[in-house]
Amino acid sequence: MEQTEMQKHPNLADLIRALHQIFANDKINVDEVQNLLESHKSDSREWLKYAKFDQYRYTRNLVDEGNGKFNLMILCWGEGHGSSIHDHADSHCFLKMLQGQLKETLFNWPDGEKKELTKNSEAILQENQCTYISDSVGLHRVENVSHTEVAVSLHLYSPPFDSCNCFDQRTGHKKRVRVTFSSKYGEITPLVKTDFQENN
Ligand code: SIN
Repeated sequence: MEQTEMQKHPNLADLIRALHQIFANDKINVDEVQNLLESHKSDSREWLKYAKFDQYRYTRNLVDEGNGKFNLMILCWGEGHGSSIHDHADSHCFLKMLQGQLKETLFNWPDGEKKELTKNSEAILQENQCTYISDSVGLHRVENVSHTEVAVSLHLYSPPFDSCNCFDQRTGHKKRVRVTFSSKYGEITPLVKTDFQENN
């Protein structure tokens, strides 16, 4: 039977419904989630209400709480904005590009005391691409290296977490930080500065 357009390229509402179904199961198939996210084609009319930019740092904007199984959020990256090097608190992390490009640099876990983190790989993520990381893959930094274009990405974390570790690239030293939202369901929340977000 031919697939319907909805099945081939789910819109944002259908995508969220499908994610709820998948994450109702206890065992998660990473490829299945990654393929589903990649099959969604970004349409700014669907996500514009969540896209709250800040002049100085990237923002995290909650879209859906996934019945407590996952957090789905939109991250808005101004020109030159980037994250710290961080882990993912034992959660799955899926990152799908909605607009523009982001550079993802993968690092290995620190090896011993006071040693520079070693780079594993780097990639430029293109619109509609979906990538995956977890603590078993390593650490990463995500950056909008463009000086002329903003970037918007959709992130799914499962299970949801509200703190993770950030790492100093030169020493491998780690610090526990809280992660917060700039907006929830399209409504601005009081801004709390965390060390997780850096301006490059
Ligand atoms: C990421 O881990 O993919 C981006 C950083 C964040 O969630 O703030």
